[in-house]
Amino acid sequence: MDLSQGLMLFFALLISCIILFSSIKLFWRRGDLPPGPTPLPLLGNALDVGGDIVHFLMKLSEKYGDIFTVYLGTRPVIVVTGYKLVKEIYLDKGDDYLNRGDMPAFDAFYKDSGIIFTANMKRWRDLRRFSLMTLRDFGFGKSSTEDRIHEEIRHLISALKDTKESFFDPRQCLSKSFYNIIFSIMFGNRYNYEDKEITTILTYIYQAFTTISSSWGQIYEMFPWLMRFIPGPHQKINKCFKNLTKYVDGRVKINQETLDPNNPRDYVDAFLIKMEKEKINPNSEFNMKNLLACTLQIFFAGVETMSTTTTYSLLILMKYPDVLAKVHKEIDQVIGQNRGPTLQDRNHMPYTEAMVHEMQRFTDLIPMGAPRRTTKEVTLKGYTLPKDINIYPMLTSVLKDPTCFKYPTEFNPENFLNEKGEFKKNDAFMPLAAGKRICLGESLVRMELFLFLVSILQNFDLKSSVPLKELDIAPIVSGLGNFPKPYKMAFIPR
Ligand code: HEM
Repeated sequence: MDLSQGLMLFFALLISCIILFSSIKLFWRRGDLPPGPTPLPLLGNALDVGGDIVHFLMKLSEKYGDIFTVYLGTRPVIVVTGYKLVKEIYLDKGDDYLNRGDMPAFDAFYKDSGIIFTANMKRWRDLRRFSLMTLRDFGFGKSSTEDRIHEEIRHLISALKDTKESFFDPRQCLSKSFYNIIFSIMFGNRYNYEDKEITTILTYIYQAFTTISSSWGQIYEMFPWLMRFIPGPHQKINKCFKNLTKYVDGRVKINQETLDPNNPRDYVDAFLIKMEKEKINPNSEFNMKNLLACTLQIFFAGVETMSTTTTYSLLILMKYPDVLAKVHKEIDQVIGQNRGPTLQDRNHMPYTEAMVHEMQRFTDLIPMGAPRRTTKEVTLKGYTLPKDINIYPMLTSVLKDPTCFKYPTEFNPENFLNEKGEFKKNDAFMPLAAGKRICLGESLVRMELFLFLVSILQNFDLKSSVPLKELDIAPIVSGLGNFPKPYKMAFIPR
């Protein structure tokens, strides 16, 4: 046997061993876990996913019920559907499922740092508590944030008027407003909409999010160890994150150079001051790595989610002119044209409030939720799940649970109205998840969505560039996020 034959034999044996090992591991682990489709060694159920993981998992729930196991590559994931069981994970037994599950596309950058993706519970707790407190100090949920939002809305309305009823894709313009609000909370200032920097950064954020949600992104999630080395569109994800990190790094340096410890101006200043205070504590989570990660993560989450939700909302309102007409009527009756909306108006605008809720339910922005991980061995619906196993709480199945909503698959604000036409809360309304790890931006989301949508509709009628029946409201990609297809529209002053 010559050297090349020997090497071939060696690699053949190695691959056989890996497959055998993976099969034994799969067989051994499957014994205790909820049932699900049979996985292949190494590939798991990857061949069945077919580019739309949300559809694939929801189809499986028809066969296996509200709890089942799938293998994303070699990684077992417990998929949980329906309000009753997802509520158990978020609320009834929340502490048992509080850790973050694997998100390989992000983990390459952030697994060990920041709030969203960290699987280190002490780090998560310290950074989340600090961030919530600091964001409150700088305005989350307070009237100062309402003022900030109003100021940004004034810029947006003026920019939309300048488009002079021409057709264009509204996403960039809307994104710039949300960018400015979160940017001013994190870094203390806003940008002009014409600024080139803001457009570049928004492009990185959008590209990263949509690529992760695409079928390439889904393959990356299943085989990160392999896909990292294979060329393809998914390579954009790392490039975008690198550029975003570099950008945030530069902005943090500006804060460092101009810091006055007695007069913090924004989130980054507050973090720098905390870092200085804790520098002798070897276990402190307040270091430069976590500062960069937290800032970038809050910023990234705050911009992309809001831009997509409002871009999607305008598209849906054009598709449902009867809903748009009712909202216009309520705005005219309650607010009129002589002043802008305030948050107090929500109490007197049940139809609009129902529409804003229905928008979040129907657009279903994060259909699979963010993966969680068990913090100890747990029992769920009679199954014993080991510590550290990944859980997918399928938010889409809660938001469209037929036992909780009258019109689960339709866009219909009646889902949030009672017989008297009053606004009606619904416990299954959890687009931001629920419990101790609920979306950190919760209060900002509520303020921004109402004020932005109402201000836009107070000022404009919406005109589609294509006939109503050609307006396609199905998402262009559906994975981590649901994204609308790009479209064009015109804003007609009222
Ligand atoms: C419509 C808009 C939004 C939606 C649908 C949304 C949805 C979510 C969801 C489903 C989670 C996962 C919670 C979990 O189960 O662990 C989450 C987490 C998070 N969101 Fe949002 N979000 C939105 C807006 C925002 C905004 C405006 C911000 C920032 C200001 C933000 C910051 C975060 C952060 C930092 C986390 C991580 C929380 C943690 O791990 O403790 N989000 N969001």
